[in-house]
Amino acid sequence: MKKDLLSVQDLKTEEIVEILDLAADIKKNPRKYERALKGKSIGLIFQKPSNRTRVSFEIGMYQMGGYSIYLGSSEIGMGGRESVKDVACVLSRYLNGIVARTHEHATVVELAKHASIPIINGLSDMSHPCQALGDVFTMRERFGFLKGLTLAYIGDGNNVLNSLMIAAMKLGINMKAATPKNYAPDKGIVKLARALSAESGARLEISSSPESAAKDADVLYTDVWVSMGQEKEAAKRIKAFKNFQINDKLVKKAKTMSVVMHCLPAHRGQEITDSVMDSNHSIVYDQAENRMHVQKAVLLKLLK
Ligand code: CP
Ligand code: NVA
Repeated sequence: MKKDLLSVQDLKTEEIVEILDLAADIKKNPRKYERALKGKSIGLIFQKPSNRTRVSFEIGMYQMGGYSIYLGSSEIGMGGRESVKDVACVLSRYLNGIVARTHEHATVVELAKHASIPIINGLSDMSHPCQALGDVFTMRERFGFLKGLTLAYIGDGNNVLNSLMIAAMKLGINMKAATPKNYAPDKGIVKLARALSAESGARLEISSSPESAAKDADVLYTDVWVSMGQEKEAAKRIKAFKNFQINDKLVKKAKTMSVVMHCLPAHRGQEITDSVMDSNHSIVYDQAENRMHVQKAVLLKLLK
């Protein structure tokens, strides 16, 4: 494996499968790993808020005998009080790894360039690899397989979609993404996804029709319409996305046994209704739990 996990494309397909297999064992036998990272420590550099990513990494380290230290923007002031390079070089002398949640993807890339320790992307404007790994783990846990499943993503062409699309194409999951016209996913990511789809045989369909995306899908997936850092665009976005909601009517288009996923936090009443979030189709809390098992596997692989 590479030193860092900055994007899903850093991982070969077989490395993704190894992570999912290790995560399944960790979930089943957590005691087996309770001393696995004894004496190891990680820093969590977060420029944006977090519930799942922060707590699941901190508790994941604790459960494996390691230690984590939270470094919010008011603490170290990366890029202001001190340069990204200096933060990377100094923390490399204290820690065994860093999880970084940054505004710009270029910042995690720069951290990785200067740090001698692994950098794990805990979300940037371009990608959210830990989320995508947790998501495919959750799908495999639910269905028992991945190849040939159909995943419909309804909503914003954002960081979560970028990572999910690459993971899906690598693993042979068919993907139908529906976004409003001006909110399509990054062109470079789509190009890469199309190349990967030619290798794995997974189908990729990108449209602006939530109904055609949802039709006969095994999984319906959505994320917030307004990502962290886009708060000023909120009113415009809420208007543009009004028809891109996962509601009972849309769930009826999918397969009878379909599941509904959301990376969370959810804005109930916007991208997803209460009735869907709280229905039997929803597996959002399994999905949140699995972030921890998968990230423990990532930590074990990267923190040698
Ligand atoms: N899904 C996710 O990354 O959640 P947080 O922003 O709460 O970490
Ligand atoms: N797209 C969202 C994901 C939150 C986990 C954001 O970037 O805010």
